Amino acid sequence: MVQMTRIIEIFRQQPVGEAVEFSGWLRTRRDSGGLAFLEINDGSCLANLQVIAEDHLNNFETEVKKLSTGCSLRVQGVLVASPAKGQTVEVRAESVTIIGWADPETYPLQKKRHSFEFLRTIAHLRSRTNALGAVARVRSALSFAIHRFFHEHGFLQVHTPVITTSDCEGAGEMFTVTALEPGQLQGAQPFANDFFGKRAGLTVSGQLQAEIFALSHGLVYTFGPTFRAENSNTSRHLAEFWMLEPEMAFCDLRGNMEVAEAMIKSLAATALTECTADLELFEQFIAKGLIEKLSQVRDRPFVHLTYTEAVAELERSGKTFEFPVQWGIDLQAEHERYLCEEMAKAPVIVTNYPETIKPFYMRLDDDGRTVAAMDILVAGIGELVGGSQREERLDVLAARMAAAGLDLEQYGWYLDLRRFGSVPHAGFGLGFERLVQFVTGMQNIREVIPFPRTPGSAPC
Ligand code: 4AD
Ligand code: MG
Repeated sequence: MVQMTRIIEIFRQQPVGEAVEFSGWLRTRRDSGGLAFLEINDGSCLANLQVIAEDHLNNFETEVKKLSTGCSLRVQGVLVASPAKGQTVEVRAESVTIIGWADPETYPLQKKRHSFEFLRTIAHLRSRTNALGAVARVRSALSFAIHRFFHEHGFLQVHTPVITTSDCEGAGEMFTVTALEPGQLQGAQPFANDFFGKRAGLTVSGQLQAEIFALSHGLVYTFGPTFRAENSNTSRHLAEFWMLEPEMAFCDLRGNMEVAEAMIKSLAATALTECTADLELFEQFIAKGLIEKLSQVRDRPFVHLTYTEAVAELERSGKTFEFPVQWGIDLQAEHERYLCEEMAKAPVIVTNYPETIKPFYMRLDDDGRTVAAMDILVAGIGELVGGSQREERLDVLAARMAAAGLDLEQYGWYLDLRRFGSVPHAGFGLGFERLVQFVTGMQNIREVIPFPRTPGSAPC
C-alpha cells in the first residue's frame, strides 16, 4: 500500500500530540518573525492543513522561506490543537522536505480567484483549485454511489461497447470510426474495405446492448462514456459525456419512473452526507440555496405530468417563450425549466410524448399518438434523464423501425429479442455531467468533466 497519510484522515482522527507525516502542495506561505505558516492541500478534502515551520529547521532560510504556491512537499511533525480561527488542529513541523519547486514567475495559479474560463485553458492544473477540486471529489462520490445503488438493488453491471454499428438514438450524431485515410473514403460503399467492413462509430448510447442483457439477466445497468457529434455549444452539452443506463425486464413505465426517482433521491442524500464541506463551498460561492434544493429533492416527491398536461401548463402560463408552444413540439430548455423551476418548484417527470419526436424503440401507447417515454426535468438544467418503456411487440417495433428508415436486416438481432421470449422492459439514461452540475450548482458543463470535448475543442 501507499505509505502516505492523507490530510482528510488527519482531520478525521485528530491525533493531537502525536507524530504525523503527510505530503501535498503549498497553497500559501505567510511569514511572521522566525515562523513560516504553510497552508498545505493534498486534494483529499477542501480544507488545508496549516503547518508551522520554525527557524530552527536546518533548511528554514535556504528552502522554507523560498517556498511559493504550487510547490510540493513532505512534512513530518506533531499535531497540535490550533489557536487560530476556523481550524481545530495544525502541525508543528520537525522537517519540511521540498519535493518539487514551482517557479512563482510562471506558475499560473496565484492566490486570487481565477475565472472558470481562464481555468479551462489550464485543464492540467485546474483540479488544484478549491472549486474544481471539490467538483472532482463530488463527481467521484456520485459515480461510486451510482454503482453502490445498483449493486445493492441486485443489478448486473454490463460493459457495453464504445465502438458500435448501431445508432441507438437515430439522430445521425455518431462520430465515425475508421482505419482508412480521408482520401480512401470514396465511392458508393466507402466503408466496405474499412476495418469493420461497414460504417462503425462511437456509441451514442449503450441502451440497445443493455437491452440484450436485460433480456437474459433481468436487471442491468451500463455506465460509461458516450459520444455525440452534436453541434450544440451550450452550457449543458458535451461531445463526450458519461451516461448511466439501467435497463429492467418485466418492468413498465411506472416501474421505470420509480427506480429513477429513488435513485436521484439516493444520490442527493449521498451528496448531502458525504460531500458536506464541498457542498458548503458551492453554496457559498457558486449557488445560493443549493443545500436546501438538494434536501428537497431528497425529501419531497417528484411531480408527474403527461406531455399533454405539460403543454397545457405552458399554454396557461401566459409566458412568452422563444419557441412557441403547441402540442407536437419537442420541449425546449426554456419550457423544461419553466415546468420544474416555476410551475412545480420540484423535479418534474414528463411522460407520454408524441411518437413523432421520440426514437423508434419507445413503446407505442394505445392512443397510437404517444409513446411510453419519460423525461426528468430539474431546476437549472432541464432534462437530466430520458427514458422509456421499450416496444416489446415484434410487429409494432418492425413497423416503427421501417418508418424511421432503419435497415431491418442490420437490426435483426434487436428484433430477435422480440421474437424469442420478449418481455415488457424499460430503462433510462441519466447524463452524468448534468447530474454533477445539478449537485454542485456549476453553471457550465465544461467545469464538471475533467477534460471537456466540445465543438472545436479537444486540447489534450
Ligand atoms: O435522452 P437521451 O438522448 O436518451 C438516450 O440516449 C437513451 N438511449 C437512454 C436510455 O433510455 N437508456 O440521453 C439521456 C441523457 C439526457 O437526458 C441528458 O441528461 C444526457 O443523456 N445527454 C447529454 N449530456 C451531455 N451532453 C450531451 N450532448 C447530452 N446528450 C444527452
Ligand atoms: Mg432525451
